Amino acid sequence: MNKGIVHLRINGEEREIAIAPNRLLLDALREDLGLTGSKRGCDDSSCGCCAVLINGVPMLSCVALAASYENCDITTVEGLGGPSDLDPVQEGYAEMGGAQCGYCTPGFMIATKALLDRNPNPTMEEIREALSGNLCRCTGYMQIYESVKYALEKRRAISAAAASGVRAPVVR
Ligand code: FES
Ligand code: FES
Repeated sequence: MNKGIVHLRINGEEREIAIAPNRLLLDALREDLGLTGSKRGCDDSSCGCCAVLINGVPMLSCVALAASYENCDITTVEGLGGPSDLDPVQEGYAEMGGAQCGYCTPGFMIATKALLDRNPNPTMEEIREALSGNLCRCTGYMQIYESVKYALEKRRAISAAAASGVRAPVVR
């Protein structure tokens, strides 16, 4: 199949790739762009490991055609933050044991980020609903819910600190 040039804005960076029209976004990210954070955990769109944000909305990259997202903003788990500037979501999963084998974690983090961006004060029910498309085989989910609660508390602390002009306290 003939390749065409596709322009994607990935984690804030303009990227240009030559891909076939049937190239899956997950394969383009992992194999063409070297962004291996997003994982393939199933072959029937049921695990959520491959989730990325497209224009702020969580999508399964294993069933998305990369060429359909010309000029779209795509955020992968790598775009949330790095070792020296962890996003509160990443910090939450690290602190509260929400990541064990870690295979599902990128997808959970993306779903968590999308939830907290659209609803900074979710109920437990809303948290469960937002993460219901993501499967974890290790944690039993309680640590994941605790990780989300940590992240939302940390975000609140950061907002409050920004409003008062002081540094955000560590959430424990
Ligand atoms: S890899 Fe399982 S839903 Fe995409
Ligand atoms: S931490 Fe292993 S599958 Fe979720």
